Amino acid sequence: MMLKIPDVLTPEELQRARSLLAQGPWVDGRTTAGVQAAAVKHNLQLPPRCEAGRALQALVVPALERNALFFSAALPKRLLPPMFNRYGGDANPDGHYGAHVDQAIRYNPETRQAVRTDQSCTLFLSDPCDYDGGELQVQDTFGEQIVKLPAGHLVLYCGTSVHCVAPVTRGVRQAAFFWIESLVRSEAQRRLLFDMDMALMRLRERHGETDETVALTGAYHNRLRLWSET
Ligand code: NI
Repeated sequence: MMLKIPDVLTPEELQRARSLLAQGPWVDGRTTAGVQAAAVKHNLQLPPRCEAGRALQALVVPALERNALFFSAALPKRLLPPMFNRYGGDANPDGHYGAHVDQAIRYNPETRQAVRTDQSCTLFLSDPCDYDGGELQVQDTFGEQIVKLPAGHLVLYCGTSVHCVAPVTRGVRQAAFFWIESLVRSEAQRRLLFDMDMALMRLRERHGETDETVALTGAYHNRLRLWSET
């Protein structure tokens, strides 16, 4: 499943994020990639524990926590601290990231806790009109999905997918990226729960709370109870 979520950041948060990104310091992105991915990775990143990175994390994580759609789709158990990357510009001409699969297990740099990367997330921080190229291309069960979203929007996709970022041939593309270990390991089960939650939300909007929505909400939670690992 791939899900696009609009307006995760407010315009004020975006502006603050951009001023933090402008501070840097930007380093070679290969430092955090596995062997296969490092061979095809040509971008820049903020070091995970730098001051700007920490301030950006403190801005992005609460924005995710207040987003009901993100919660419903991701059912997060553990979130790796968001990282920040940059493609293009003088320091990284034609910046790109060739086809790769993200490592299945990553370690939280703060706690050293192992996190299974069930889902990958990219939060776009640059306006699409400010750069050419830079599309995120994800091999999905339904074929290749090409994603280039407005600043402040995010895309959530399955961690198992082969994906790449096309070369940025003009301007600079900046984004936050991170991984989620879900309470529900199975992609198919997460999808069923998400579909049910969305249908329930629409039912409530149309008819208010009824005996049927209460019963279905119970059915949702009983599935979540059955399928989740805490
Ligand atoms: Ni990746």
